[in-house]
Amino acid sequence: MPFAAFSGASMAVLLVVIVACLLAFWLCICFAMLKWNEIRYSRRKGLPPGKMGWPVLGQTTEFLKHGPSFMKKQRAKYGSVFKTHILGCPTVISIDPELNRYILMNEGKGLVPGYPQSMLDILGKCNIAAVHGAAHRRIRGSLLSLVGPLVIKDELLPKIDKFTRSFLQNWHGKTIDIQETTNEMALRVSFDQIVEHEPTALYEVFKPEFDKLLVGTISLPINIPGTNYHHGFQGRKRIVKMLKQIMAQRRASAIPYDDMLGRLLRSKDSKYILSDEEIIDQIITILYSGYETVSTTSMMAVKYLHDHPKALEELREEHFAIREKKKPGEAIDWNDYKSMSFTRAVIFETSRLATVVNGVLRRTTDDMVLNGFTIPKGWRIYVYTREINYDPFLYPEPFAFNPWRWLDKNMESHCYCFIFGGGSRLCPGKELGILQISIFIHYFVTSYRWEEVGRNEIHQFPRVEAPKGLHVRISNYHD
Ligand code: HEM
Repeated sequence: MPFAAFSGASMAVLLVVIVACLLAFWLCICFAMLKWNEIRYSRRKGLPPGKMGWPVLGQTTEFLKHGPSFMKKQRAKYGSVFKTHILGCPTVISIDPELNRYILMNEGKGLVPGYPQSMLDILGKCNIAAVHGAAHRRIRGSLLSLVGPLVIKDELLPKIDKFTRSFLQNWHGKTIDIQETTNEMALRVSFDQIVEHEPTALYEVFKPEFDKLLVGTISLPINIPGTNYHHGFQGRKRIVKMLKQIMAQRRASAIPYDDMLGRLLRSKDSKYILSDEEIIDQIITILYSGYETVSTTSMMAVKYLHDHPKALEELREEHFAIREKKKPGEAIDWNDYKSMSFTRAVIFETSRLATVVNGVLRRTTDDMVLNGFTIPKGWRIYVYTREINYDPFLYPEPFAFNPWRWLDKNMESHCYCFIFGGGSRLCPGKELGILQISIFIHYFVTSYRWEEVGRNEIHQFPRVEAPKGLHVRISNYHD
């Protein structure tokens, strides 16, 4: 027994020593790895201050987990321009409004889009974010010829009106997940503008594949069966196949289709000639760019209006004034849309307060001096615009939902308003997106009342989403 006691005690001591040694060894390795990443980048002169974190991972975990508070902490330590290593790349983060503006306005000086290659691989190599210079001007020109104000006014608005009106029919008495519903609406309305008259059955097959593509672009780039990234590629493959089939059918038919694909296929008569591969990537771009942005803004507008009855009342007045001038069931026209100034203000305030887009990514094509720091060639710059949305000098009481602040028209064009980006990459779908949301709001608030059901949690970062949905009970407005 005494022997056993002695041996038990010494075994315990030995175990503690071994664990301590392993721990110390592990800590040494961690410390060396951390230092290694710091040393690796410290040889470069003139870099902004900041930590690079772990090799490979960098500070990605802190960034994704704590987002806005991580940014604030780093800014308090290092100032509004700092370096880090996130999402697999050495990155400079700029929270400085002046510098952000400079970066957005100066793509020509070598500040090109810096979206991850893994994302561009799924979106296609002719995707607008993958090209710059003359190629960008051509792809963007083609896109603007499809979604510019004249096309919206004469062709897209009547189609969007018709679609939205029928989409919102018969909601009375239902409890719906407004996140799921606006998500469905945003993709479907773009799909119909691109390939009108395709059977619903095709859309039913298309949507899940497109959702896979979308998730693939924002997941870890590990291309092995079972991963979201792999599914993203598969989604792209099937989408490309479907689009190729539709293109072949269209070419074989004599019908002059009056939708976006029809216009793209006739592009050889226009200023912007696109190859088949470019046409496919252009379609994916339109669907992708206007999907989450439009659906999330619509969802958040419903949320904020529900929580702010005064704003909802003023909004309803604007829309009932439009309806009073119309026959029952008459469509919204361009002048009606242009008169929706409070609706536009609601949309801008929603995008600002919810921060639907946190920022944009750029990459340096050469070593470059910005704000006195040298940014090496190939580094990514995260033009982080979220903080500007809560700047109390630009937006007094920045955390209040106050659409009235946008009624001053100059607010939309103040030089730090980056809700739709800026410079040569300013969102070409801005008016189309605002119009789609306005038409949705029009039919929603003039047809229905709604109340939230249960507790609906909303996450704000890295993307705005209601993880369990945003459930609302709908009833007819006039009952
Ligand atoms: C509320 C809705 C929307 C918001 C908040 C929004 C926001 C933005 C932002 C911030 C950018 C700048 C990206 C950058 O600089 O890298 C951008 C670019 C872009 N947006 Fe939108 N967007 C919206 C709707 C749409 C719609 C409906 C379309 C459909 C055509 C669209 C198509 C694009 C495209 C193609 C670009 C890239 C432009 C380029 O690289 O030249 N967006 N958008």
